[in-house]
Amino acid sequence: MASVYSHLQTWLPAHGLTVELLGDSPIRRQVKQHGELMAQARSLRSWMSSCAAGAEVLPEIEVAGLLRQAALVYGESSDEKLAAMIAIAASAPAGDLVEIGALMGRTALVLLYLARRYHIGSLLTVDPWQAVHAIHHDSPANIGRLVDEWDYELLAEAFFVNLAPWSGNDHAHLRMPSVQAFAVYSDGLPIATRESVVVPFSRRIAILHVDGNHDHAAVKQDCELWVSRLLPGGWLILDDYQWAHGDGPRRVGNELLEACSQRIERAFVCGKAMFIKLGAEPAGEG
Ligand SMILES: C[S@@+](CC[C@H](N)C(=O)[O-])C[C@H]1O[C@@H](n2cnc3c(N)ncnc32)[C@H](O)[C@@H]1O
Repeated sequence: MASVYSHLQTWLPAHGLTVELLGDSPIRRQVKQHGELMAQARSLRSWMSSCAAGAEVLPEIEVAGLLRQAALVYGESSDEKLAAMIAIAASAPAGDLVEIGALMGRTALVLLYLARRYHIGSLLTVDPWQAVHAIHHDSPANIGRLVDEWDYELLAEAFFVNLAPWSGNDHAHLRMPSVQAFAVYSDGLPIATRESVVVPFSRRIAILHVDGNHDHAAVKQDCELWVSRLLPGGWLILDDYQWAHGDGPRRVGNELLEACSQRIERAFVCGKAMFIKLGAEPAGEG
C-alpha cells in the first residue's frame, strides 16, 4: 500500500530503526511500469508501418493498451509479433479471422480487438486443449514433458475467463483439433458462442493465425486446409517460423513461399513468425 510505504519511509528513521524498505513504492513502481510500456509501444510503432502495407498504424495509446491487455494473459507471442499482427490487420480484407491454437487467449484477444477495430469480421478460435494433440513428436524430450504440466480443463476455463470481458456474438471457439474444425467451418455448419448464439462467419478468411501443434505434419495439414479458404489480400501468420525446438513451421513456410510465389503480395518475418499476404490465384489455377 502506497500510504504504508510512505509512512514507513519517515517513521523508520525517526525511531532509529535501520530497517531497509525493499523495492520502489507502489506509486513509483506504477510510474516506472507505465513509462516502460509507453517506451515499448513507441519503439514498436517506429517500424510497424513497414508491416502495414501502406495502411495507417493504430495510435501509440492503442498499441500500448493492447500490449498491456495481452501481457495479462499467459502466452507465447512476443510484443514484436503482436505489433506486427496489429500492423497487418489494417490492410486485411473483410472476412473471418481464424486462430488455430489458442492456449490461454493472448493472441485471440488481440485478434478480437482488431476484428472489431477494423470491422474485419468474426473470430473463430480452435483448440482441443488435450494433451494428445499438444505433444510435439519432432521436438526434444524436454519440450514434450511440458505437455504433462498443464491441466487441460483449467486451460480451457482460463481461456474463457481471459476472453470474458471481450465476449460478444462475433467470437466462437471450437474445442476440437483443427482438422475436425475445418470440416465444420468449410461445410458451413453453424458455429455458436458459449451462449448458443450462432456467429456469422463468411467462411472466407481475412487473417489466419496458424499456432497449433508445431510438428511438420501438423503445420502442413493446418496450412493445406485453412489456407485454401484465405481471401485474396488475406494474411497468413505462421507462428514460430524461427523456432529453437523444431523446423516444422519453417519447412512449411518455405514450401508455401515456393508454391504460392506468384501470389505473394508481401512476406516478412517478425517476432519469429512469418507473415504472408496472399493475392488472388493466377487465372487458370484453383
Ligand atoms: C503455442 S500454443 C498457442 C499460443 C497462443 N496462440 C497464444 O496466444 O499464446 C499451441 C496451442 O495449440 C494447441 N493445439 C495443439 N494441437 C492442435 C490442433 N490439432 N488443433 C488446434 N490446436 C491445437 C495446443 O492445445 C496449444 O494450446
